[in-house]
Amino acid sequence: MARKKLVAGNWKMNGLLASKSLLLEISREYGNAACDILVCPPATLINALRGGTIAIGGQDCHWNESGAHTGDISAAMLADAGADAVILGHSERRTDHGETDEMVAKKTEAAWKAGLMAVVCVGETGDERDAGTTLDRIGAQLDASIPDGATGKNLVVAYEPVWAIGTGRIPEMSDIAEVHDFIRSKLKDRFGGDTAEAVRVLYGGSVKPGNAEEIFAVSNVDGALVGGASLKAEDFGGIISAAK
Ligand code: 13P
Repeated sequence: MARKKLVAGNWKMNGLLASKSLLLEISREYGNAACDILVCPPATLINALRGGTIAIGGQDCHWNESGAHTGDISAAMLADAGADAVILGHSERRTDHGETDEMVAKKTEAAWKAGLMAVVCVGETGDERDAGTTLDRIGAQLDASIPDGATGKNLVVAYEPVWAIGTGRIPEMSDIAEVHDFIRSKLKDRFGGDTAEAVRVLYGGSVKPGNAEEIFAVSNVDGALVGGASLKAEDFGGIISAAK
């Protein structure tokens, strides 16, 4: 069965209550698209944006359900606020907050327990790409960041080369294909063919309306995780329209 494409917007630390108009515009203009759409705003906005036709996600969660963790938010709280999903292990969390693969795996388990779909991010740095160790890095991240129990419904993998995030630079299409094919084969080895065929693998990093169609045509690319271009309805909509 063909995997339905998913276009996910990661608003990062952008968005105020007034951003509800952006979500409504996306929903109105592109809500009938051929792909699934997910928007991940700051956690403060989840409750305000819930309940429409577009799925809503968080951008991180703690692995505990509650407790003495000042400033953190649990998967159960995200679900309670109305989230359907959560991005985990984004490179900005790994870099800014020292998140390890082991932490990401614990967070993923917590997300599943709360009924959230986990969007687990992996990706090499520019130095790793230059050194030819991209697949080693991605393989290690997949092994250690994804716990047992993955299904096509509870897991999405996002391949985001760190050097392509917010830079306007993207890999060669053949390089994207190599990594996505590799991720699919790793999922197959670990979880079996049926699960591996059902899990969507997104590409992220400088996806724009102008390059989305080409990226979506690449083998094993099942959609995109979009940063900057998800903050403008027209740009996000252009990417959504390219996902068939
Ligand atoms: P940009 O689309 O701004 O490069 O960000 C990608 C990203 O980090 C999405 O999670």
